Amino acid sequence: MTDVTGMNDVTGISDVAGTTGTAKGTNVTPSDPPADAGAVFNLLGGLVAAQVLGALAELHIPDHLADGALTAEEVAERAGSHPQTTYRLMRAASSLGMLDHQGQHRFRLTGLGRLLRSDVPGSMRSMALVQTSPGHWQSWAHFTEAVRQGSTQTKKALGMDLFEYFARPENSAEAALFSQAMGNMSGLVTQGAVAALSTAGVSTVVDVGGAHGDFVLALMEADPELSGQVLDLPHAVDGARAEAEKRGLSDRFSAVAGDFFQEVPSADLYLVKTILHDWDDAQCVTILRSCRSAVNEGGRALVVELVVGELGRPDFATVSDMAMLAMTNGRERDLTEFDAVFTAAGWRRSKTYPVGGGYFGMELVAV
Ligand SMILES: C[S@@+](CC[C@H](N)C(=O)[O-])C[C@H]1O[C@@H](n2cnc3c(N)ncnc32)[C@H](O)[C@@H]1O
Repeated sequence: MTDVTGMNDVTGISDVAGTTGTAKGTNVTPSDPPADAGAVFNLLGGLVAAQVLGALAELHIPDHLADGALTAEEVAERAGSHPQTTYRLMRAASSLGMLDHQGQHRFRLTGLGRLLRSDVPGSMRSMALVQTSPGHWQSWAHFTEAVRQGSTQTKKALGMDLFEYFARPENSAEAALFSQAMGNMSGLVTQGAVAALSTAGVSTVVDVGGAHGDFVLALMEADPELSGQVLDLPHAVDGARAEAEKRGLSDRFSAVAGDFFQEVPSADLYLVKTILHDWDDAQCVTILRSCRSAVNEGGRALVVELVVGELGRPDFATVSDMAMLAMTNGRERDLTEFDAVFTAAGWRRSKTYPVGGGYFGMELVAV
């Protein structure tokens, strides 16, 4: 759900497809390229690409290739998979740019494929697994119905909301992958936000719905005076504590299980990163009011989200918005929509800046 395409730009980018504007009474402009069925087929192949990446990740194929090229048969032996089928999978992965076929069934990792290793900074392995696991994949099966009905169909797909699904003990492995994926995916965004955000005068920070706490922990690494906390659902907090322990920050960190619709701990600064896009406007107001009620005198909140830009330009936020519809009752918003929510919750947006990957930091002050 991050801006891997670099399509999003609130201030506007060039019309790479040349598709803006239509002549009156027609659907085709002189600048439209000739229709290409192959290009449509390629777009539809997105589902195949996702499954190929999911299978590579699940079989640990990029990890098996970490020390150098191997034949498909050698990989199959390590992965416990069928040799000929593994060859077919790896051949397809080469077509997608994840592997490089060196002849005689021998493959090596490319730079892209390396990102599916489990042990590299910015690893996308858990994201590849989450996107192809039942919580996400089954929800996409009901996507058109979500458009018809105007709301997510996760109840039909999973029998419950996505976060309820993750909270079930039988889905704990998928939930842990989701928290990990959120942290890994947002490495670049977190770095950008930490660099842009001043913590002068801040002692306590709460990462609201912070998952494994990657954002608040990065901020604590940058400022040794900060005490940080993650507030998340019960199934996520052990992962946050383990992450703090791994980074040697446990003495300044705590994780509390709670519900951000009810109450959040008091703090000088709230981090609200990729939370609001999961919820409808009324729910966003409730979350931000929880923060507003508990914020210390002179405190702030930092909301980090994709921001929908001008219409008629390629914009990844509008594509991510479709994932929000498939999975949640949330949405991606433009600045006007964000401001309406902030105002209704007793906050005012004081600063806005890009933090990388198409995401924006929006600093809020209490009014
Ligand atoms: C899309 S993830 C974002 C995680 C993290 N902020 C990030 O950007 O990587 C949404 C998070 O909200 C948490 N969450 C969902 N409902 C919640 C609730 N009612 N109270 C607290 N946390 C909740 C989920 O468990 C999950 O960790």
